[in-house]
Amino acid sequence: MGRDSAGVRQTADTFVAQLMRSKVAVGLLSVAPIPLFLVRSILTRDNARENRKDSWQRLRRRSEVARYNAVRSVTERYARDGFVLDIGCSQGILQEGLRYGRYIGVDNCEQSILLARPKCDQRTQFVWADGSNFVADQPPNAVVLNEVIYYLPDPIAAVEHHARHLAPGGVVIVSIYARTWSSRRLLRALAARLELLESELIRSGHLAWTVTVYRPLSD
Ligand SMILES: C[S@@+](CC[C@H](N)C(=O)[O-])C[C@H]1O[C@@H](n2cnc3c(N)ncnc32)[C@H](O)[C@@H]1O
Repeated sequence: MGRDSAGVRQTADTFVAQLMRSKVAVGLLSVAPIPLFLVRSILTRDNARENRKDSWQRLRRRSEVARYNAVRSVTERYARDGFVLDIGCSQGILQEGLRYGRYIGVDNCEQSILLARPKCDQRTQFVWADGSNFVADQPPNAVVLNEVIYYLPDPIAAVEHHARHLAPGGVVIVSIYARTWSSRRLLRALAARLELLESELIRSGHLAWTVTVYRPLSD
């Protein structure tokens, strides 16, 4: 396999990645009321293929940089010197170039964690575990769920779980593909249960992601 202009090893795109390249398909997906359980079953199968082929490498492409930088910059705003818990971290792409005091990346794909482990140091750990109900040994200042909530069996419960385990003043940062019916529903459900602090739309061609920041509702 070759490398692209950013030096990223090129792998064949999976079904979902190919679908998202089509403007027409993306337009249809943005209005079709496809329920989350269906989205999840397609994504989970696709994810297994992505992990097998190590094609998450595609997230290192230049087209993804703006989105990753937006998530990094919001994370640093809340936890520049603090503890960042990155749920569904894959190979820890977000961690690369992120400033933090301490970082734990969690993924339930062992192969991804093994690929990330060479980056471990005194402040940085990668853990093979289910991210839905993971509890770290110390309350995090920021929990990041970057493009992962639609893979979780109960995304709302998972975000609420992480919101309950934050350090005082801590936040949960959710980045989600914005232009589907189920994403919009998820964002509405989260805003009803948590305090929405900020929300930013990141566009890349015909695609768009929403980066949202929440904290627990005060009593
Ligand atoms: C689109 S990738 C996310 C990439 C990553 N967050 C980043 O910033 O580069 C989705 C990741 O979520 C992981 N994942 C899916 N379900 C999970 C779960 N229950 N617990 C932890 N990780 C999970 C997958 O293995 C995959 O690595």
